[in-house]
Amino acid sequence: MHNTIISLVILFIITDLGFPYPAPEDALHNAQVFLEKYGYTEKEKRDANLVQLEAAVRHYQWLSHLPVSGHLDVRTVLQMNEPRCGMKDISQARWLEQFNGLVNRKRKKRYTLNKKWYKHHLTYQILNWPWYLSPHQVRQAVKAAFQLWGNVSSMAFSESMSGAADIRLAFFDGDHNDGAINAFDGPGGALAHAFFPRRGEAHFDNAEHWSLNGRGRNLFVVLAHEIGHTLGLQHSPFKNALMAPYYKKLGKDYLLNFDDILAIQNLYGAPPSGKLVQLPGKEFAFFQDWNPKGVEGFTTANTKPFYCQSVFDAITWDMENLFYIFKGRQFWTVSLNGNVSEPHILKHRWKRPPAYVEAAAVSGSDGKFYFFKGSKCWRYKESKLEAGFPQKCSDYGLPQHPDTVLYFQPLGHLVIFKGTKYYVINEETLTVEPYYPRSLKDWKGIPTETTAVLTHPDGSIYFFKGEKYWMFDQDNLRVTASGKWAEDLSWIGCKNS
Ligand SMILES: *[C@@H]1O[C@H](CO)[C@@H](O)[C@H](O)[C@H]1NC(C)=O
Ligand SMILES: *[C@@H]1O[C@H](CO)[C@@H](O)[C@H](O)[C@H]1NC(C)=O
Ligand SMILES: [Zn+2]
Ligand SMILES: [Zn+2]
Repeated sequence: MHNTIISLVILFIITDLGFPYPAPEDALHNAQVFLEKYGYTEKEKRDANLVQLEAAVRHYQWLSHLPVSGHLDVRTVLQMNEPRCGMKDISQARWLEQFNGLVNRKRKKRYTLNKKWYKHHLTYQILNWPWYLSPHQVRQAVKAAFQLWGNVSSMAFSESMSGAADIRLAFFDGDHNDGAINAFDGPGGALAHAFFPRRGEAHFDNAEHWSLNGRGRNLFVVLAHEIGHTLGLQHSPFKNALMAPYYKKLGKDYLLNFDDILAIQNLYGAPPSGKLVQLPGKEFAFFQDWNPKGVEGFTTANTKPFYCQSVFDAITWDMENLFYIFKGRQFWTVSLNGNVSEPHILKHRWKRPPAYVEAAAVSGSDGKFYFFKGSKCWRYKESKLEAGFPQKCSDYGLPQHPDTVLYFQPLGHLVIFKGTKYYVINEETLTVEPYYPRSLKDWKGIPTETTAVLTHPDGSIYFFKGEKYWMFDQDNLRVTASGKWAEDLSWIGCKNS
């Protein structure tokens, strides 16, 4: 019965080499499951007939701003695999109605089917969060996400630390008792979902690698979107709206577009002052020092340094026997005995540094600091930026967005790790040495996409990724130990205090 679609899928698999597709039957099955989950077909109709399936595919393509063919073509299959919100999209008729209503400025109809809250002050509670994000960071992000909506409407929000709360936010793995259709699916796919008023719940997939500091899956954007649902907003047909179904990276622009603002005001009205407050997206790129006045619970005498509960961006070791640990706009120094400094701000120590570093190393030959971020690199002699830096190092063949960089004593060179390859770099010319890049397989036992690396004064190389570390023996070129860095490595500064 499905032969036509299956052969279409096969056709597209054959014509688009280089992308690992599932078998055609699986691709068809996955598409059916997707269309059902997101409200394009009903379960009973899954196997109904080709005509209905084609209609659903057309409908999906139309709503996703794809060429409407009714076929499961490459772009359609790829779009279905993009990370998104787990809530249903609404019917084409409703989208059209919304769109026409918007164009005609008669928008009453759009939200009348929605439930709403009948009070203007709501409380919220954060029930749990991933181990690698600090409580302070998460609370700041949640607060900002609520403010985003509160600053363009008549709503106000406050955190309730205990007792009842109107809206509860929680992270879950897989099936979490709100129906098989809501079971989370691991990294990618559905990232989160929420319930319309007045159930007051938003759930986030614990298996995502959430981030609040410029790398990884941006939790703030997803928080803001799901909070929109808890307030009664449905998905928006506008690609740039925060309430559009697909995940967006944090950009420079305002998060809310006119459609989001009209939608929330349609439910709850404009702010009493009549003034809308919006901040550019880049204000939300770092949460550890967002709203610097509100630093409650940040660094108090008895808490571990902030990076301990989290993933740091880079680590290096200088010639004065100090470790440097970088995270966001901040860094810490740790002495060999594990004594950790207060958090310092990058730009207080180095002139015109990057906003955050993706990789850092200190040259073992002259003690200069190297920072890498995006396509650029920075070189410092003490705190002075060397002439000509930052440079676009990708122009010399260095990889963009390096995973990690290491000063490798045996070669007397910097080594950059990126994906499945590593590059040996000539410090003088900043070019890649002959015969490189080479395969990461030379570093037996080291995973791809490590987040930090350094050569310890004990002579071993330590690689870091997530909560884990690998200790690599330079002489025998193999991993000799591994474990959880915060618990196992006393010199990283997370043990005592
Ligand atoms: C909301 O408005 C307040 C007051 O103007 C401002 O301090 C705050 O940063 C704004 N928050 C967001 C998320 O726009
Ligand atoms: C740790 O460092 C602080 C200053 O950063 C210093 O006052 C303190 O004495 C040091 N403690 C140890 C045990 O070295
Ligand atoms: Zn959504
Ligand atoms: Zn759920």
